[in-house]
Amino acid sequence: MNFTDGLFITFEGIDGSGKSTQSQLLYDALNDLGISVIQTREPGGSIGAEIIRSLLVSGDTDRWSAETEILLFTAARRDHLEKTIQPALTKNQIVICDRFVDSTRVYQGVARADLRQTVDELHSIIIKKEPDITFIIDTDPEKSLTRGLARNSGEDRFEEFGLEFQKKLRNGFSELSKTEKSRCHLINGMRSKEEVSNDILNIVKDYAK
Ligand SMILES: Nc1ncnc2c1ncn2[C@@H]1O[C@H](COP(=O)(O)OP(=O)(O)O)[C@@H](O)[C@H]1O
Ligand SMILES: [Mg+2]
Repeated sequence: MNFTDGLFITFEGIDGSGKSTQSQLLYDALNDLGISVIQTREPGGSIGAEIIRSLLVSGDTDRWSAETEILLFTAARRDHLEKTIQPALTKNQIVICDRFVDSTRVYQGVARADLRQTVDELHSIIIKKEPDITFIIDTDPEKSLTRGLARNSGEDRFEEFGLEFQKKLRNGFSELSKTEKSRCHLINGMRSKEEVSNDILNIVKDYAK
């Protein structure tokens, strides 16, 4: 693979779908190929954004309204972009990011509230960055919710919204993959970790040809 420009890759999907697992496997595979790559995540990925993360992922479900969440996620994203993502892309590195704006589009734009336009408007003013490739990992919400809560991470505020919420998220991500066809790849996540990971690596290799 020959990369002359940085490449911005994001992972999206419902809670427990395998995003973190697949981010790590892609990072390891690219690293093994000797490619300069960094792995990061949202909310978080920079010192300031990690502080905002702790406000978002713990506590009661009604701790924040959907509108306040959009502002907090966008503030965290701006810091992450300034401090971590853009500097790496400028150095022609590959950036693998576990969640980005598509999560806000679907969580606050579709599943929690009907605020997609607000998310997009704020994004166009403050962030102005879209990924080159997005992998949306598609899984059964029931299984994923069980997997997610079993981690006991203490970061389960969004899992606590329940199964119906996760079903809305799945539909939201699936719809998004249809409207953002050129960069979004809907990946069947209900297979072994290795099968999923091979598909993802092949798409990245094709993109880089
Ligand atoms: N393809 C898979 N098959 C079975 N279990 C998986 C698979 N992918 C991930 N897992 C497991 O499911 C749980 C949730 O995966 P994780 O990557 O943390 O999801 P996410 O980051 O999307 O919330 C973890 O315990 C992980 O080991
Ligand atoms: Mg994760």
